[in-house]
Amino acid sequence: MSDTVLIAQITDCHLQNDPEQLYRGLDVEQHLDAVLEDLFHPAEFSRPPDLILWTGDLIHHGGPQGYLRLQQRLAQLPVPSYWIPGNHDDTALMMQIGGALNLRTLECGEWVIILLDSTSLPDGKGSGTLAQNELDYLQQQLNQYSDRHCLVVLHHNPVKVQSGWQDSIMLANAASFWEVLHNYSQAKAVVCGHVHQDWDLDWQGVRVLMTPASSVEFKKCSDQFQLDDDKKPAYRLLELRSDGQIQTSVKRVRC
Ligand SMILES: [Fe+2]
Repeated sequence: MSDTVLIAQITDCHLQNDPEQLYRGLDVEQHLDAVLEDLFHPAEFSRPPDLILWTGDLIHHGGPQGYLRLQQRLAQLPVPSYWIPGNHDDTALMMQIGGALNLRTLECGEWVIILLDSTSLPDGKGSGTLAQNELDYLQQQLNQYSDRHCLVVLHHNPVKVQSGWQDSIMLANAASFWEVLHNYSQAKAVVCGHVHQDWDLDWQGVRVLMTPASSVEFKKCSDQFQLDDDKKPAYRLLELRSDGQIQTSVKRVRC
């Protein structure tokens, strides 16, 4: 691994249990094919990522076949993958099937990546909560890795996005999350999915990166749910530098 760790984040794939079935009228299986094709066969010269983070809503209310199909697919990729659940996932099933995909802390050079499960206490509309054991885990890991730069990864957005319906289903206990995180200056950034949009914000000194979906885009700053048909499927690249800086970009793919 070079001095810079290159990470790809793929999120909100909303794959169906039956790969032939569409999601919101679109072939999200093909969207994911296009994302992976772009990631590993880019038009311009660049190196493949060191690992891929899959940040939830991977199988849309699917059963074991969906997860087993995705797991087999990830096993064929030339780099390791790690996944966390979103509100549309079956968390228990993911944990049961995931094996090494479920790893919660990744040591990458000068960096440590901490992956959290934000799917506790679902409200049935999309919101989720970090259970106390997740907050404790975050704190314990930040204490343990006090000499590393830290990237925290979860599905739900812990800050608002100026959208009535989306702000009502963000991370329900965001205040508790920030209460932990703000004690640790090595926590450089938080990465999430859920919003199906691209955001790069500063929240009291911590960078918050939200990543558009590989499936469909939700219209920004809209109080009602609306798709944004103009936006292509996407993924995020993150270059984690040894000095703690992050270079990031969202890649849109043709499909
Ligand atoms: Fe989603």
